[in-house]
Amino acid sequence: MNVSIYETDKSNIGRAYDLMKMAFAQQRNIIDPEPGIFRNDTIRSLSSEIDRGEKRLVVALHRTRLMGCVLCGVNQENPTEDFYFGRLAVRPRYFGNGIGRQLVEEVERLAKEEKFLRSTCAVRIALRQNIAMFEKWGYEIVGEGTHTGYAEPTYYKMAKSL
Ligand SMILES: CC(C)(COP(=O)(O)OP(=O)(O)OC[C@H]1O[C@@H](n2cnc3c(N)ncnc32)[C@H](O)[C@@H]1OP(=O)(O)O)[C@@H](O)C(=O)NCCC(=O)NCCS
Repeated sequence: MNVSIYETDKSNIGRAYDLMKMAFAQQRNIIDPEPGIFRNDTIRSLSSEIDRGEKRLVVALHRTRLMGCVLCGVNQENPTEDFYFGRLAVRPRYFGNGIGRQLVEEVERLAKEEKFLRSTCAVRIALRQNIAMFEKWGYEIVGEGTHTGYAEPTYYKMAKSL
């Protein structure tokens, strides 16, 4: 699919938020806790984070239609070396067309341009297919994390050297 991928300002956050909810909806009954987009985020909170420079928005557009998006920024766990991305989301009817991969490649390009050493993300342990996808794209499991209130680890930290 022919899409344009680029970083954009917060004027697109409303439709990006809707698309993220659409993409993550199918995981609501699969992962515990449910996806962060349903627990943590609102359009207002994401806009503020973009205003403060904590998060940046990259979009994939086909003509004017939003096909995918991802949030990225400095990884606060290792701010001098690691860039982070999350909420990677593609319009569900268009899964498997390379849009997710192109979004991640753009995040990696931004990170490299800004001299970060690694691109990093967090992936739920229960979502084996996502872990396999990131491994295929050069990411490795480098640690694990546990959501507050859970006894066992719930996600892997994954990283790729740039
Ligand atoms: C995950 C998501 C962003 C991927 O986007 P997409 O546009 O469908 O992905 P792409 O078409 O670019 O790539 C899919 C890749 O995964 C690979 N893949 C899929 N299932 C796989 C599996 N079980 N094992 C290994 N690789 C797999 C495909 O072969 C393809 O690899 P390629 O790029 O080398 O051809 C999209 O499915 C989505 O929005 N899912 C819901 C939200 C989500 O889970 N986000 C990620 C949170 S970590």
